[in-house]
Amino acid sequence: MSEIFAEYKTIIVFLHVISAVVWVGGMIAMRYAAHPSFMALESGEERLKRIVHALKRLFIIVFPFTMILLVTAVIMLIGYDLKTTEYASLGYAKEGIWSIMFINFFVMILRRNRAAVFLEKGDVAGAKFSMALVGKYMIPLNIILGIVAIFLGSMLSSSL
Ligand code: HEM
Repeated sequence: MSEIFAEYKTIIVFLHVISAVVWVGGMIAMRYAAHPSFMALESGEERLKRIVHALKRLFIIVFPFTMILLVTAVIMLIGYDLKTTEYASLGYAKEGIWSIMFINFFVMILRRNRAAVFLEKGDVAGAKFSMALVGKYMIPLNIILGIVAIFLGSMLSSSL
């Protein structure tokens, strides 16, 4: 693995960084650009339908990048032999952040899917309840965690 990392370091770091850009940037664009625009729609049902549809597309785009981020992280952990260096704690912190971000992301997928089912049945209140936490807390949480992970990545890249 170390040899693979040494040979393909540029592409592995590139894939790691572009994955973070898509995951974190996608959520920032959705929460602070698309979402306020959807909120301008008059009908509550139409608003929810647009949000549920846009989130489906965002989650489909983001999912492969969450996996690429993990695979490249594992390659770098082994390639740099990070756990034996003085920066091991930064590696553990980033693993923890990725795990929380992914669990949060997975729960958001479940809540979005449930909201879509409610909307199909015409239960707007149920859909609204299902989506409330997503926009208010879950997406912002992942944005904050993602930014912290990017900062820790910058610390690692300037130290290793
Ligand atoms: C799964 C655990 C993770 C590990 C073990 C890990 C490990 C690393 C390492 C070793 C570097 C330095 C690469 C180098 O310059 O050679 C790095 C950089 C970076 N990481 Fe991670 N990472 C993890 C998760 C994440 C997450 C969740 C994000 C953001 C969502 C992220 C975003 C970045 C970015 C943007 C850089 C580049 C920083 C720079 O070059 O200034 N990483 N990561």
